[in-house]
Amino acid sequence: MTTQAENELITRVEGDAPLGRLMAENYWIPFAMSEHLMHGERPMPVRLLGENYVAFRGEDGQIGFLDELCPHRRASLLLARTEGNCLRCIYHGWAIDVSGTVVDVPNQTTRKEAFASSVPVVHFPVCETGGLAWVWLGGAEAPPFPDLPFADEELHRFWCVSRIPCNWLQGLEGTLDSVHAGMLHRTWIEGAAKLAEHSNLSFALDQPPTYETQLTPYGLRAAALRATAEAKTYVRVTEHFMPFVTVLPVGRALPRTGSVFVISPVDDTHHLLFFGTFGDSPHSAVTLDQLSMQDPDFVPDPQDYAGLRGDRLNAWGQDQGLMDAGHFTGIGRSLLEEDAIVQTSMGPILDRSKETLSSSDVAVAQNRRMLLDALSASEGGALPPGSALATEPVRVPNALEMLVEEGQRWEDVALDPVTS
Ligand code: FES
Ligand SMILES: [Fe+2]
Repeated sequence: MTTQAENELITRVEGDAPLGRLMAENYWIPFAMSEHLMHGERPMPVRLLGENYVAFRGEDGQIGFLDELCPHRRASLLLARTEGNCLRCIYHGWAIDVSGTVVDVPNQTTRKEAFASSVPVVHFPVCETGGLAWVWLGGAEAPPFPDLPFADEELHRFWCVSRIPCNWLQGLEGTLDSVHAGMLHRTWIEGAAKLAEHSNLSFALDQPPTYETQLTPYGLRAAALRATAEAKTYVRVTEHFMPFVTVLPVGRALPRTGSVFVISPVDDTHHLLFFGTFGDSPHSAVTLDQLSMQDPDFVPDPQDYAGLRGDRLNAWGQDQGLMDAGHFTGIGRSLLEEDAIVQTSMGPILDRSKETLSSSDVAVAQNRRMLLDALSASEGGALPPGSALATEPVRVPNALEMLVEEGQRWEDVALDPVTS
């Protein structure tokens, strides 16, 4: 059981919270879809680990990532003008470029250049990979970015982002609790199964699996095992790259295909959820239409795909008429809205001391243990799994599905479809 003290440790990310520090000091943190950062557009508000930042793309294509407040007298740079590779604060006109250097100080009358170059600017390095922008808040020199299975530039990808008003771990645990898909997303899956022959999606989620987990150098590997009629075992292997990324398989015999959930820890009570699919062909990535097929009139907000429509007083917009008509959840716009609503319904920070876990919660429980162990090990100076500071480069294999013969162990079957 998770105690209240443990729950505090694995949920709180703001200020001096140990987990927030661990995240900032060891991992590149995702904050935006690359396509949402366009030159000439308004600076993007970013909030991570309870701190406010501003991001913008200069005309040279580089992304600047700065403290939200101007280094002069602290006006918000969300109001700034984007000029070339700079943000120009509208209050007194200071200009700061994408590298975090003050390049113009119109209100300084003496030794302008020397003064500008001496201004301390809080700024951070950004890496764009796999269609997302990630920031390094860990200080010193930015370490190499890990090798992720959806990062290859040749892959076709689809991404959407949602703003979820609850703690980051509620979102993350939804990605490790894959048995919920066969229940919560039942109506969506029934619809998707009809498209399966055209889209290479495969679904075998009707019977509850047994779960097994393995610790890996980058986090956690979770296998869902189901017996088949031919005395084989159908295994779906999920790869979790601690602490933000979970990759799930979506297509048998499609080694470079998968779906991916990426959590961004906004503050103690909010997270961003990036959901993506990727594949070798344009048809192997799930499209926006397929995600939202339950409601053909649904026009998502690009910055908030799952966009909640209410609160507990209206059951978050759940549609009773839709349920009467046969929809399992009555949450009809997309499967991501189903996830967002159940996770938000737990409250801003779920009190895990009051849960009753069942046999399908193995990966959820293992992940909590891994977080707690990483926190205590970090007090002694040890790096957590998948730390970007590790001397061995971090490489996360793709998730995959496989059929295992009787007497064979899934752990012994090659797990990296790129090389198998
Ligand atoms: S507050 Fe930004 S230039 Fe003065
Ligand atoms: Fe889900």
